[in-house]
Amino acid sequence: MLKKIINWYKIISEFYKKVEKDINDRYGGRMSNQLKINLEKNNSEKIIIEDSINENKKEKRTKKSKEPKERKYDSRNKLNNLTGAEWQYATKTVISKIYPTNMQHKLRSQHGGQKPPELCEDLIKIFSKEGQKVLDPLAGVGGTLLGAALCDREAIGIELNEKWINIYKEVCKLEGLKEFEVINGDANEKLKEIQQESIDFILTDVPYWIMDQLNKTRSSAAERKSKLSKFNDKNLQSKEDWLKEMKSIFSNAYPTLKKNGYMAVFIGDMYRGKEYHFLSADLAKAISEIDGFVMKSDIIWHDDSKMLHIYGYPFAYIPSLIHQHILIFRKEDL
Ligand SMILES: C[S@@+](CC[C@H](N)C(=O)[O-])C[C@H]1O[C@@H](n2cnc3c(N)ncnc32)[C@H](O)[C@@H]1O
Repeated sequence: MLKKIINWYKIISEFYKKVEKDINDRYGGRMSNQLKINLEKNNSEKIIIEDSINENKKEKRTKKSKEPKERKYDSRNKLNNLTGAEWQYATKTVISKIYPTNMQHKLRSQHGGQKPPELCEDLIKIFSKEGQKVLDPLAGVGGTLLGAALCDREAIGIELNEKWINIYKEVCKLEGLKEFEVINGDANEKLKEIQQESIDFILTDVPYWIMDQLNKTRSSAAERKSKLSKFNDKNLQSKEDWLKEMKSIFSNAYPTLKKNGYMAVFIGDMYRGKEYHFLSADLAKAISEIDGFVMKSDIIWHDDSKMLHIYGYPFAYIPSLIHQHILIFRKEDL
């Protein structure tokens, strides 16, 4: 048996040696001069053909970029100025695009809850047309208003804290962007001054719930460092009170919006006091209870600027919240 195996092994290795020699003879060290010339000729022809294809492509690319891009959107489109392809992209329920930390980010980040103006611009382009009017009743340092200026919309804001309005104005000057009116005061009152059904799109970002257990569950140093309370001097409040306040603001915003107009609301969930607070769901329910507001979507924005943390390690699972919700509502028939 062993002899038989050795014989088979010899036959197979002889066969492989022969094949290897054959290949070397044809293409290896003993390659004929004529074969070399033919191969080189073929290769250089191939290079010339490839070069001309690439040149052609380049030419087409440069020609294309010189021509003004024709934007075609459906004449029946009463909502925005997006083409079909842009519309398809815009209805995605997850935003994973990375937004730059620009537009005087350092100045604006004194606020702590500022949103990227380009993200606001992208949302405004989905829910309004050029020249239409956007409202932010909780304007902060003006993410929405800056976004509106970037895409040629009109805008108006309301903000409780004058400090944030001044920063917004400063940013407009430094960036050379159109400055919109920001009314200083409580949105609950000031919204009544805005003409009814004059707004095409509401884009806003709610103030965080300043949780009443905050100082019980976090060290005082962490609390001092926390950005969450930075942009609002209010005292701590219960979740119910926070929801009531938000519902009141959105009830007052409702009459300003045109019929069939949309509203988008940024809201982040929280992990505090050893539990996850599904604030986006609570807020979605509260706004849906306002007659006429119909919820249309919940967009998840992956906020790339958020740092990962290792709270809980190595004992317990605590999530690193790197997303925010953007709740979408439409004003429909009562
Ligand atoms: C999350 S921040 C908005 C940040 C904004 N998106 C930006 O990019 O700067 C919410 C803002 O609402 C303001 N605010 C809170 N309660 C308010 C009220 N009742 N009326 C008007 N503004 C209020 C806060 O001062 C805070 O600046």
